[in-house]
Amino acid sequence: MDLGISGRWAIVCAASKGLGKGCAQALAAEGVNLVINARGEAALEATAAELRAAYPGITVHAVAGDITDPAVRDAVLGACPQVDILVNNAGGPPPGDFREWEEDAWLAAVRANMLTPIELMRRTVDGMAERGFGRVVNITSGAVKAPIDILGLSNGARSGLTGFVAGLARQQRLAARNVTINNLLPGAFDTDRLRKNFAIGAEKSGQSADALAQSRAKTIPSGRFGTAEEFGATCAFLCSVQAAYMTGQNVLLDGGAYPGTY
Ligand SMILES: NC(=O)c1ccc[n+]([C@@H]2O[C@H](COP(=O)([O-])OP(=O)(O)OC[C@H]3O[C@@H](n4cnc5c(N)ncnc54)[C@H](OP(=O)(O)O)[C@@H]3O)[C@@H](O)[C@H]2O)c1
Repeated sequence: MDLGISGRWAIVCAASKGLGKGCAQALAAEGVNLVINARGEAALEATAAELRAAYPGITVHAVAGDITDPAVRDAVLGACPQVDILVNNAGGPPPGDFREWEEDAWLAAVRANMLTPIELMRRTVDGMAERGFGRVVNITSGAVKAPIDILGLSNGARSGLTGFVAGLARQQRLAARNVTINNLLPGAFDTDRLRKNFAIGAEKSGQSADALAQSRAKTIPSGRFGTAEEFGATCAFLCSVQAAYMTGQNVLLDGGAYPGTY
């Protein structure tokens, strides 16, 4: 299926690895020009080079820096001639016990997983509406629907974003101008982040990281973790012309792990 977005420009935040990279790859395969971002310059440049080599018809700009920093957001926006598509992403907050989190920990989580995507939307969605096309995809987490105890910072900050998006996406000045805003909720995906979590769990439990990963995979109806390619393909569909009537939704990609009917 031709997704009808060839020649568009997209910003994909936090895209040198993992789910953000999966989204950048899927958009590149559709002929979308990219501005990609991440903090580590070497991995970001390597991803940009990979995308340029695989998709010579597109332009890829790489802007290194922490997306929670206003100056980096300025640079990312400045590198994009016209923002047609915005994929919001950043690292997830650390796990822990809420008794140990003081105000600074909460402010960092809220800045990364709520205020940064809101700020990027504030600066792009009205331009999208003026031009009559816009797609925003926020990478959140399955923890928004089914909270995970030790990920309280994520549960809280991402729920704030989700509530805000529910209202914004339904503004007629956006929706009636072909601007859609949806959230993509990963369950367990095979990325560095998930592997690091198993490594931490292995240190604490004495079991190997592989054993922990295998027993976790068994709890998922699909019997495995998702791939960044699968995640990216869904992101690209949400950015397509075909998805124009889909807005304000929370799309769960979790191999059936969420146990509820709705
Ligand atoms: N994988 C899962 O199973 C899963 C499940 C639920 C939710 N999530 C959430 O989905 C998001 C992506 O996860 P992932 O698994 O793809 O992680 P990952 O494999 O660790 O990749 C994270 C990417 O984001 C970049 N990044 C992190 N913090 C950044 C920042 N402040 N500014 C700019 N770039 C930043 C990283 O590069 P640098 O470190 O060089 O900046 C890297 O490119 C996270 O918020 C995570 O919590 C993931």
